Amino acid sequence: MNTRDTLYVKDGNLMIGSFKATELAAKFGTPLYVMDAQYIAEVCDAFVAAVNKCGSGAVAFANKAFATVATAKLAAAHGLWFDVVSGGELYLVAQAGADMKKVLFHGNNKTPREIDEGLAHGIGFFVVDSLNELELLDEKAGRRGVKQDVLVRVNPGVSAHTYEAVMTAAPFSKFGFDVHGDALDVIKDIASRKNLNFRGLHVHIGSQIYDHSSYDAAIDITTDFVKKLADEGIVTDILDMGGGYGIYYTDEDPKFTPRRYAYTVESIARLVAEKSAEKGLKQPFLIVEPGRSIVGEAGITLYTVGAIKDFPGVRKYVAVDGGMFDNPRYALYESRYSAVIANKADKPADEIVTIAGKCCESGDLIGKDMPLQHAETGDILAVFSTGAYNYSMASNYNLNAVPPVVLVDGDKADYIVKPQTYGDLLRNNTVPEWLNG
Ligand code: LLP
Repeated sequence: MNTRDTLYVKDGNLMIGSFKATELAAKFGTPLYVMDAQYIAEVCDAFVAAVNKCGSGAVAFANKAFATVATAKLAAAHGLWFDVVSGGELYLVAQAGADMKKVLFHGNNKTPREIDEGLAHGIGFFVVDSLNELELLDEKAGRRGVKQDVLVRVNPGVSAHTYEAVMTAAPFSKFGFDVHGDALDVIKDIASRKNLNFRGLHVHIGSQIYDHSSYDAAIDITTDFVKKLADEGIVTDILDMGGGYGIYYTDEDPKFTPRRYAYTVESIARLVAEKSAEKGLKQPFLIVEPGRSIVGEAGITLYTVGAIKDFPGVRKYVAVDGGMFDNPRYALYESRYSAVIANKADKPADEIVTIAGKCCESGDLIGKDMPLQHAETGDILAVFSTGAYNYSMASNYNLNAVPPVVLVDGDKADYIVKPQTYGDLLRNNTVPEWLNG
């Protein structure tokens, strides 16, 4: 557990803000996603300060990590821009009242409809990722009579030290144009188009990365490429270095504070400034796009312990009322988490258990072989660092409802996503007339 002012143990109880986790579970039910507003605000402020340390820049929140209107409003209030990756995310930030000029539209295969929607909203930047997109965007921008600002996603060919599913800049990735291959010609093409305005480059090397050397290598290669563009007379105003900063999940990971996370941003800003100066380049406006590091540790999922099955000497299962429908990350990546029994948080975690979900498949686990206090049916289990890529990847598998989300802000707590009803689950079901007999 990575404790902080808003996440701590008092009199044996896990506290989130001013609330006992068990109180939140009793009031809002379980399974329940809890998000800590103060933590999110603190990370946002630290990142914004860091990105402006060595020049000017912006922090764009990667909505894919956690997409709700309330948290988008919170992020915007702390000066964040937005990275959106679908028409849905675009709609969300518009609903949150974001300044659309501070929105970057990502995606390796934006649909024609999404391109239209981005243009209709007058977003700041499309991050062009394919030749198909380039053609479509040029044509559609032309039809609207606008000259659209674009960044180009480039692949520096760096293999970040993380799990394969979230590496994005290794050679032959589905993302971006190769800086050692087609990127130069693509950018020359964009620079010659009437309806597109080349503003800069985007690089995202992957996610859950602790090792700075991957960023250092990406910055070196990318600024070399900026120089190559400059030699062709093409100016790169903006450098967007993506996100990907690794967070605390278990005691094997570093226990960072917001300040320490921001240090990663600061060192990226410093290196971009240094490398640009070294290569005789104008200092670019730097964008970073963190998702997980802003919301990951802000999130705690609360469950009620149900069935317990012990296979002595083999495994003890503690089953909860959630599972892969609220957190598919073990099933997808064998991700690891830490947890406590919220009402016994000061007791020793002297059992090793496997936390099982309630879905009909054996791989539906929250985590395997996790240290935990002695669990009894009815206890409240709190799983930490679930704020990123849990709610945003949740599903209605087995027709389980996606849990609601409650935002805690000190001594205030309220829904930011309401509970789904059975009716919600069937909302879009229809029965063709011929089946109605
Ligand atoms: N920018 C781009 C273009 C991205 O593709 C991503 C994440 C980010 C920023 C934010 O990265 P972050 O700071 O959150 O690491 N579902 C996976 C993670 C997929 C990440 C996808 N892209 C997981 O649960 O680990």
